[in-house]
Amino acid sequence: MSMKCVNDFRLRFGKQELVPIMVGGMGVDISTVDLALEAARLGGIGHISDAMVQTVSDRRDNTHFTKEKLKLYKYNVANSDKSKVMFDLGRLAEATHNHVGRAMQAKRGDGMIFVNCMEKLTMNSPRETLRVRLCGALDAGIDGITLSAGLHLGSFALMENNPRFRDAKLGIIVSSLRALQLFIRKNARLNRLPDYIVVEGPLAGGHLGFGMDWAQYDLHTIVAEIVAHLKAEQLDIPVIAAGGVFTGSDAVDFLEKGCAAVQVATRFTVAKECGIPEKIQQEYFKANEDDIEVNMISPTGYPMRMIKSCPAIGAGIRPNCEAFGYLLDGNGHCAYIDAYNREVALHPDAKKISVKDKTCLCTHMRNYDCWTCGHYTYRLKDTTHRNADGTYQILTAEHIFKDYQFSTDNKIALPPLNP
Ligand SMILES: Cc1cc2nc3c(=O)[nH]c(=O)nc-3n(C[C@H](O)[C@H](O)[C@H](O)COP(=O)(O)O)c2cc1C
Repeated sequence: MSMKCVNDFRLRFGKQELVPIMVGGMGVDISTVDLALEAARLGGIGHISDAMVQTVSDRRDNTHFTKEKLKLYKYNVANSDKSKVMFDLGRLAEATHNHVGRAMQAKRGDGMIFVNCMEKLTMNSPRETLRVRLCGALDAGIDGITLSAGLHLGSFALMENNPRFRDAKLGIIVSSLRALQLFIRKNARLNRLPDYIVVEGPLAGGHLGFGMDWAQYDLHTIVAEIVAHLKAEQLDIPVIAAGGVFTGSDAVDFLEKGCAAVQVATRFTVAKECGIPEKIQQEYFKANEDDIEVNMISPTGYPMRMIKSCPAIGAGIRPNCEAFGYLLDGNGHCAYIDAYNREVALHPDAKKISVKDKTCLCTHMRNYDCWTCGHYTYRLKDTTHRNADGTYQILTAEHIFKDYQFSTDNKIALPPLNP
């Protein structure tokens, strides 16, 4: 058995060497700027997320993008047709600049900060809003962009005229060799391969790149296929394994099998620097295996893993597209609007309705009411101390990062006891 630790390995981008630990993007403002800064300070890679970036800028930079948008479209709140509700591209660029700029200005140390960009945030104008988000992040000095949730077949092309297109690190998240091959084929014309490939398995948090048959798949198998394929094609692109890497030894296992790094997230949901309010972090600690489910209530159409008791499940709030509207497709549709209207029609006299099959993801993510989580969330209680009052001790990102970096033998180091 190997007694190696993650720190025996390095992720290489050209001449730059990093600790091969990447903290994954967690929207909405769960992987905060503060969390990403810690990962970068410690020599790894941290992610911010650009999901609902105007709302995040409002919260962190005291802007009023959301209020202004709501004011502009107030007349439409009771209307089920949301096609008129558009994002102002100038405002979107500003919010992106605020969010990314704040991270890059505060960055210290040898690591990097990337932004996670979800294609499925279609914002009632998929191409134009995505272009602004991607180019805005490059212009604000982001070290790299990780393209997630959606196939992103055209996303590289949206950036091809940006001066940083070839110097920023650009990566993709895939859950199968087939998706990777499709991406490479569709982008051949650009003569610009991804700088890294995150291979995300079915135990991850957030949206899954699988169907409801996710349990049939195994990260090790998919990673092995992709590593073998890249070798056969003589493509030297770092592969980064993600989803269920819970200990340093789990990470070493992938590093020894040809991965250049791992992407981890769930362990950091209970860090002080994470955006989830402490009261809800306690719910993550407390969760047992049967408190967690993968369901289809996200309007994106992708399965999502969450803690069953979260307020987002079964809620029946009026859609908030005038304020948010991040999931409206190119025609102003969102699956939650349809589900909500159906329930209103079925229960015309009800004061309060419940929508079981879909959720208003924008509103609930914004309020930390959708408790998305990784499969191994039920093991978080083993990573800390239990306080006298039954709550669990919140960790620091540094403690978690260093535990991944230096632990051996499947051990998890407990933090120093809070005084
Ligand atoms: C709370 C939470 C939110 C997440 N949100 C996103 C997201 O917005 N976009 C994304 O690409 N991945 C998201 N993920 C996936 C992570 O970035 C990461 O790839 C994955 O969770 C790694 O597996 P692990 O959580 O078992 O370590 C999220 C994960 C968690 C736990």
